[in-house]
Amino acid sequence: MFKWATLFTRKEVERDIVSPNGQLRCHFTLKSGNIWYSVYRTDKRIIAPSRLSIDICGENPLGHNLKLIRSLTRTHQETIEMPWGEDRFIPNNYTESIFYFSENTSDKRIFTLRFKVFDDAVAFRYEIPPQPKFRQISIKDENTEFNIDQNSIVWKIPAYQPDRYEYNYEKAVIHELDRPVHTPLTIKTPNGYYLAIHEAALYNYGSMTIKKTEKGILKTDITPLSDGTRAHVVLPFQTPWRLIMVAGSAIELTTNRTMYALNDAPSGDFSWVNTLKFIGIWWAMYVGEWTWAPGERHGATTAHAKEYIDAAVRLGVSGLLIEGWNEGWEGDWLENGINNKFSVATPDFNLEEVASYARRNKIEIVGHHETVGFIDHYEKQLEDAYNYYAANGVHYIKTGYAGSMMLIHGRREFHHSQLGVNHYQKTVELAARKKICLDIHEPIKGTGIERTWPNLLSREGARGQEYEGGALSPSHACYLPYTRLLSGGMDYTSGILDLANSVKRMSTTLARQLAYFVTIYSGMQMAADRPFIYEERFPEEFEFIRAVPTNFERTLPLAGEIGEYYVVARKDRDTEDWYIGGVTNESGRRVHLTLDFLDSGAYEATIYADAENAHYRDDQFAIVKQRKHVGRQDSLDLYMAPGGGFAIRLKRSQSV
Ligand code: NOJ
Repeated sequence: MFKWATLFTRKEVERDIVSPNGQLRCHFTLKSGNIWYSVYRTDKRIIAPSRLSIDICGENPLGHNLKLIRSLTRTHQETIEMPWGEDRFIPNNYTESIFYFSENTSDKRIFTLRFKVFDDAVAFRYEIPPQPKFRQISIKDENTEFNIDQNSIVWKIPAYQPDRYEYNYEKAVIHELDRPVHTPLTIKTPNGYYLAIHEAALYNYGSMTIKKTEKGILKTDITPLSDGTRAHVVLPFQTPWRLIMVAGSAIELTTNRTMYALNDAPSGDFSWVNTLKFIGIWWAMYVGEWTWAPGERHGATTAHAKEYIDAAVRLGVSGLLIEGWNEGWEGDWLENGINNKFSVATPDFNLEEVASYARRNKIEIVGHHETVGFIDHYEKQLEDAYNYYAANGVHYIKTGYAGSMMLIHGRREFHHSQLGVNHYQKTVELAARKKICLDIHEPIKGTGIERTWPNLLSREGARGQEYEGGALSPSHACYLPYTRLLSGGMDYTSGILDLANSVKRMSTTLARQLAYFVTIYSGMQMAADRPFIYEERFPEEFEFIRAVPTNFERTLPLAGEIGEYYVVARKDRDTEDWYIGGVTNESGRRVHLTLDFLDSGAYEATIYADAENAHYRDDQFAIVKQRKHVGRQDSLDLYMAPGGGFAIRLKRSQSV
């Protein structure tokens, strides 16, 4: 049955797996029946020998007393074309080594370790085939180590906390880590390399968090289920890819796309998927003008929705999010999730009427399901709820999972546990069947599955602008590109231009709100302020928001340091135009940008930059707007005020 089992066996093995350009090397060792790997970049060691094994409930651990039965090495060269995103083309070039093991003990179980070594990343996963006495297993623990110099710096958010991924990033040294942290975990080693530990293709398994062992080694801490196990699986089973991105600089790390390359090609025809820019019946609730719940100030009324549809048409934005349209928001909605009805509108909201008005005006409705983590309750309604939207021509849904835990099978489970992961996946697959795109708030972190499921257009999964008004510092958005955004796009709800509102004062300048549309990518990008703010107060600034694409051909990070600043250029997928965005932390700074990445010919630059007196606390609105002609021989000197930034549109001119 296992034809390779008859081949030669070896007790001790050392093997180098070298990336296509020779830059990265993974060293594999099988010694005394145990397995280790280590990682080198141009012969400097970045990961010291690290153990790999899996503990299984009621069984001996898998990963000891092993002999190698067979191994295979091959190279792969491919360029992947992504239907939407930050880069149209992604390299998928690697050297792959597959190691087939059997146990020396009477158990004689077999399993496989598959490594892929890219020029900028190492990835591996465990694959367990079904065997006569080994068909269904419960994972007690996964002991994947990342033995990284303990003096390395990490940028972290804590795991297993009530607000899921919504924490401020903190800088620490590995030996100071005292509790599990989420991935992507960004690390700077003492020899100057930047790493990010993450996972790719997370399906049917607890999500990986990282903790420090007593010996000071980083190790996987797979999110447990309420029964204490990490996952229950039927064989064959493969873990998600354990991914280590490697870069020579912080800025180089930001465009590491290996996570997507490790996911499968699309699972069907997704030619119907389109990225979207939208406004919403949303921020008015945050600033207290409207409410989610019905009443005098109810936001989601038929009348308001029609007004917002008219505004979307005038503003040139293609979609409208409507929150608070359904039954269940009365009282403390965070506690009362059991009241949510996902196919029943409030008496003052008529979905049929609004949807047909939107259709006539060529505006996409973004529907909304706030589950508050009541998964059993939501799943009972799932099919009907999606059918209801689909029947009304709604092609986009924003889902929400506010609340500290999920209620699944009557038990409290972590959002990022195996059962949480499986729930999110169920919604993605159901949405795909109904030709609906998703923007998931309080999501499971991104692991690149949008390559396989391109209808998963965006996620939240970090503090977004709803935390403004005190809980966000200007450095937050300067951490994101180097941390959270390594796991894919984010719905940051950018473009709040009413900066000094009394309820949610923004810790940004005006120019910086425009910059976010470039520095924080999202396949569903919200222009989050109320339309009258754009039309009456900031029509010129809105020109940038209207023009900036949601789908890019190419992304070119230009400058930055983690938590300090970030400057990035992106080329539109449909035109020859480029967009540049920059953000800085509490410190103002000047950047000098050479435009040699442009094609030859002339561009009309529209620049929105902080004025010299701008400041996120006092002079938030001090902006300088400038228009000039530039070409690839030119450079630009830009000022970013404390908590500020800049946004530039480079529109290709017809004539030179
Ligand atoms: C939290 C989400 O992040 C936010 O966008 C949404 O408005 C509320 N939950 C209500 O669903």
